[in-house]
Amino acid sequence: MADHEIEPVEIEDIGSNPDPRRAIGELIEERLSRRTALRGLFAAGAAAVLTGPAAAEVPARPAHSTGNSPEAGPSSLRFPELRHQLAEGDAVAEGHSIQTLIRWGDPILADAPELDPAAQTPEAQARQFGYNCDYLDFFPLPRGAGGSDHGLLVVNHEYASPGLMFPGLGAGSQARRHVSEQQARIEMMAHGGSVVEVRREAGAWSVVRESHLNRRITAETPMRLSGPAAGHPRLRTGADPEGLTVLGMLNNCAGGNTPWGTVLTCEENFNLYFGGESAETGPEAAARRRYGIQKQASYSWGRHEPRFDLDREPNEPNRFGWVVEFDPYDPESMPVKRTALGRFKHECCTHAVSKDGRVAFYGGDDERFDHVYKFVTACPWNPADPAANRDLLDEGTLHAARFEADGTMRWLPLVHGEGPLTAANGFASQADVVIEARRAAGLLGATPMDRPEDVETNPANGRVYVMLTNNGRRTAEQVNPANPRPRNIHGHVVEIIPPGAGTPEVDHAAMEARWEIFLAAGKPGVDPGAQYHRATSDEGWLSCPDNCAFDSRGRIWISTDGAAENAGVADGLYAADTVGRGRALTRLFYQAPTGAEVCGPRFTPDDTTLFLAIQHPGEDPGSTFDNPSTRWPDFQPGTPPRPSVIAITRQGGGRIG
Ligand code: FEO
Ligand code: CA
Ligand code: CA
Ligand code: CA
Repeated sequence: MADHEIEPVEIEDIGSNPDPRRAIGELIEERLSRRTALRGLFAAGAAAVLTGPAAAEVPARPAHSTGNSPEAGPSSLRFPELRHQLAEGDAVAEGHSIQTLIRWGDPILADAPELDPAAQTPEAQARQFGYNCDYLDFFPLPRGAGGSDHGLLVVNHEYASPGLMFPGLGAGSQARRHVSEQQARIEMMAHGGSVVEVRREAGAWSVVRESHLNRRITAETPMRLSGPAAGHPRLRTGADPEGLTVLGMLNNCAGGNTPWGTVLTCEENFNLYFGGESAETGPEAAARRRYGIQKQASYSWGRHEPRFDLDREPNEPNRFGWVVEFDPYDPESMPVKRTALGRFKHECCTHAVSKDGRVAFYGGDDERFDHVYKFVTACPWNPADPAANRDLLDEGTLHAARFEADGTMRWLPLVHGEGPLTAANGFASQADVVIEARRAAGLLGATPMDRPEDVETNPANGRVYVMLTNNGRRTAEQVNPANPRPRNIHGHVVEIIPPGAGTPEVDHAAMEARWEIFLAAGKPGVDPGAQYHRATSDEGWLSCPDNCAFDSRGRIWISTDGAAENAGVADGLYAADTVGRGRALTRLFYQAPTGAEVCGPRFTPDDTTLFLAIQHPGEDPGSTFDNPSTRWPDFQPGTPPRPSVIAITRQGGGRIG
């Protein structure tokens, strides 16, 4: 089950944007001109891609399509698609192999013990692979090489599932309430990230245990704050009176990397860790509400660590919700929280180099009715001098997206002193703007979206793809051109087209762009408004897009999170062409074990290996350590399910897809 959905009272992101609607006159105008925007679907050179009402009238291809002949259809993808199903195990398209590369609790640092699920300790967990793997990145070794057989795997560990990690706690929120101090400290060590040296020999991937490059980052790893909010009084605490150093990173979901070879890891649902009687009082009360911080924390950490208790450290939450940069090749490097990129529930932070060398970083704020952002560096990056790029992320402009009904869009700069971002509205400086980026974006008129997750640029066409996972709470009055479906439980994918996309002159720094809807998820012919290529089969439709990747031919690979609850099928990984006759013709490639979502799709540079992070396997209603819905991937009595990274290759070798 999705991390956002497991505990309706405490964790579900009900949306904390108080004003997701737009002025009524604006809305009517948008409705009248929506046809203009949807015209973009056809303008993409993909006559076969359908828009709303038309899609529902086109019968999907019949079921029983395992072995759908890929050779016969318009898709460039050459694998027989899987069938939709729910199962304890996982599955991949015929002709491919799955190898479990690393699991929760596997040793990675020197002297780390093997996982003993019945007797886990914080000390062991701090040296082992963490829980709930999400973002994946692959940095070739040696540094600067483009190889695909040897590298560093960088992995986020988003959150902990105590009911599945520890015996006797029960399921879901009940388990979280009963966590002991020892278990809370294990949870802290299971958060953060891992860097692991991996190698392929004779076709098989393995982890290099105790490599001097292996690293664990946890909820206690020291990090530096930089950018406009660093040192600000709102970031100062008893332990850090200067507001410059933080312990740890929390709820790191997806991420990205930089052209200069560092990794970006993104703090998402940081609100869940903080609580206290004073949560709703004092000068921070409104800002906390906007980020979903409540009296009752979801985690019990505040009982043992004063900094998670708002009554004792009211400013600690302001030190989370940031993008964190670190050098994966240097295990001693101190991670840096880059506050210029704003504070919100960052899903990801992915880069695209603009024609003038400045770099845009795209990201979504994963909450119902929140926004899509991009940060543009003030200076071009310098390929010749790595040191010159070291603090490039401290200077630049954060923008939020406003999608217009005519198929254009604007990037609204979050700059102190401009428009409503003044002292009159509580923004005394740029520090206040980035600390309360959500409120700033809303005041500027950014478009409230259907939970923006991954935002990734397709290197083949320069277009930027926004995964909007779902928003079952959007009403008919709250629809807008880029989020056109009320009760959008299946989500959709929006394509942003920067000026010059597909040419060397692409301008990711521009203030304007165009946009289209690439697909609207759900079952064609059944779910209102579902839109795909007309040839999408009964196995090819998807629900709840979350992360995505592009292979070197520019085809999109979309992973899902929430399909079981919303569509009755397992989460999985789907692939489609983005251009040509097979545009938006999605095909099911990988099916996750029950309870799991699929994260972090990551190809090696040569496309011969696809790494996937399989997160929260067994997280089904009522599923516990003692009686889990699956014991994937070990299937051993007494061993609970283990979030793991898998490596998918083609049998006999060759490029995937
Ligand atoms: Fe952690 Fe937005 O998924
Ligand atoms: Ca997740
Ligand atoms: Ca996600
Ligand atoms: Ca998700």
